[in-house]
Amino acid sequence: MLAVKAFAKINLTLSVGRKRSDGYHDLESVMQQLELHDLLEFVITKDEISLTTENTEVPTGSDNLIVKAAELLRRHTGCLWGARIRLFKNIPVAAGLGGGSADAAATLIGLNNLWGLGLSMDRLLELGARLGSDVPFCLFGGTALARGRGEVLDRLPEASPMGVVLVKPGFSVSTAEAYRMFDDLPDPEVYDAQTMVLGLHEGDFETIAQALHNDLERATFTMHPELPQLKDGLLGAGAAGALMAGSGPTIFGLAPSPEEARRIADRLEHPGLSVWATTTAAF
Ligand code: C5P
Repeated sequence: MLAVKAFAKINLTLSVGRKRSDGYHDLESVMQQLELHDLLEFVITKDEISLTTENTEVPTGSDNLIVKAAELLRRHTGCLWGARIRLFKNIPVAAGLGGGSADAAATLIGLNNLWGLGLSMDRLLELGARLGSDVPFCLFGGTALARGRGEVLDRLPEASPMGVVLVKPGFSVSTAEAYRMFDDLPDPEVYDAQTMVLGLHEGDFETIAQALHNDLERATFTMHPELPQLKDGLLGAGAAGALMAGSGPTIFGLAPSPEEARRIADRLEHPGLSVWATTTAAF
């Protein structure tokens, strides 16, 4: 049996550009891996691929990215082995935290190993991009500047571990819908990620917290006008900066330490809200 962790992510910055002819948007994003993770266990079988999980929100059929990743690997390599896969889900589903992409990345890594395929990281990154725009970053890990539709990655320096508080309301947001709404709204002002990159280079927590930016916030906030209150709630509870995670609806707040994140999370516990305290993860 092989166990692989699948780490959640946040976008410290996300600038969305024009819609391309393939339907995706060009973007520039400073992406950051979190300690919060799912766990996947893999057991080799003769030929069948199966997925089980106790989480009822996760589909376990061929539309799950884990199953798609396993099938893509087999198609790509001609491998005939199968796998029994168990998913222990901790990352909230359809929350903007890249949980499905992280699971797909962990599957590529796990089965490459379990099936002895010997694929290089470059090849896995290429296969990952076919599964979803965030999958390459989930393979890459740490802190990175993502461009293209998310698959062009450059490593950035990692700030010392920051506390991260996650607040998720009881509904989900479809990424495709958030991008559709983004297209219906006037173009956002041009944002330059340079301040964030500088903050990371200098390890300056305050600069990082002040430079948070997400072009999809306006789109998702238009669909869910109650979300800005969650952001204000996080700032009111002591977060140094707060931002929507990916396409939402989770809002994250930054704290200078894991202990401070825990204290902020305790202040936010509220019926109907899920609250987590975690930290940024190093590569
Ligand atoms: O790549 P992924 O399947 O995760 O993307 C989900 C949806 O988000 C896409 O179908 C597309 O509508 C939108 N998207 C986009 N531009 C990106 C990434 C995602 O328009 N760079």
